[in-house]
Amino acid sequence: MRILVTGHAGFIGFHLARQLLEQGHQVVGVDNFCEYYPVAIKRGRAALLRQHAGFTEVELDLADRAGVNALLAAQRFDQIAHLAAQAGVRHSLTHPHAYVDANLVGYVNLIEAARQHGAPRFVYASSSSVYGGLTELPFGERQRTDTPISLYAATKRANELIAHSYSHLFGLQCIGLRFFTVYGPWGRPDMALWIFCEKIQAGEPIPVFNRGQMQRDFTYVDDIVAGVRGVIEAAELPRCAIYNIGNNRSERLTDYIALIEQALGQRAEIELLPLQPGDVPATWADISALEQAVGYRPATTIAQGVPRFVAWYLEHPELTAEVRRWRATSPPAR
Ligand SMILES: NC(=O)c1ccc[n+]([C@@H]2O[C@H](COP(=O)([O-])OP(=O)(O)OC[C@H]3O[C@@H](n4cnc5c(N)ncnc54)[C@H](O)[C@@H]3O)[C@@H](O)[C@H]2O)c1
Repeated sequence: MRILVTGHAGFIGFHLARQLLEQGHQVVGVDNFCEYYPVAIKRGRAALLRQHAGFTEVELDLADRAGVNALLAAQRFDQIAHLAAQAGVRHSLTHPHAYVDANLVGYVNLIEAARQHGAPRFVYASSSSVYGGLTELPFGERQRTDTPISLYAATKRANELIAHSYSHLFGLQCIGLRFFTVYGPWGRPDMALWIFCEKIQAGEPIPVFNRGQMQRDFTYVDDIVAGVRGVIEAAELPRCAIYNIGNNRSERLTDYIALIEQALGQRAEIELLPLQPGDVPATWADISALEQAVGYRPATTIAQGVPRFVAWYLEHPELTAEVRRWRATSPPAR
């Protein structure tokens, strides 16, 4: 298949594109290499993708309506996997317009071009954050999600609603995937795993919010990619659907930290802090709907996945140095 992957230079888009290429698909990647975190990491991922003959790279901002339309007018895609977005909950409190530009304007530009140029299926990334402050666990797709507690979550929920209207009005098949805390090699430096490794190595205290009472459904990136590929490759799916894609376990953050300590061979000094605005105390994905639809079965425990990230992290001192330089010069909003 010829597959458009947006956000190929991002964490999840990179892994998805790489695995699709390894399976023999052709991939066209679109990314604007925005500076939310050091671009060297994005360039590093993209360089690995360029080693594959089936890969074509387009550097484009999805907020550029004419550019997006021209791309979809010029080429036919068998599938679209839309993963590009302005990610991060905390950053959305301080940089709202970045979320509007990428997650609303960019999203509509792409789904509208997909409709106009006859894409068969539009698969897009949503987020567990749409469940907001709900406390009934595990989170199921039938629960109400009309009380987002951050702008990031509101844009992701808006994506789902826009998808519904496009499938209803125009018959475009739209499949949304609510990702739950994804981690793994080539992960994001604004996320806890990277921050914790960096601080533990430097002998600095690690900030642990909600005074340590945090639980997350941590999902290893290869499991996420297996689920996204399942959706891309499925012969039959509903015309419009939203699925949770998580690990189906709610892990204590303190257990996650213990695994990081073990993998690094260093103890963490813990600074207990209150829950941050926009953040939720616990997540846990009910994944039965995706299991039924495409046979999704995550296989990686945090005891297996955390050491894999740490090993990758230790093998890339050039990237970790880049991130330290960037942290020293940019505001600590992320
Ligand atoms: N990583 C997670 O735990 C997680 C959890 C829930 C949802 N998600 C969603 O999954 C998707 C991928 O997340 P990720 O962790 O890989 O994030 P990421 O930031 O690493 O990747 C996103 C990529 O999109 C690109 N991008 C941003 N705005 C763009 C624009 N206007 N035009 C073109 N490209 C643009 C960025 O440059 C980046 O390379 C996102 O939609 C995110 O919201 C991720």
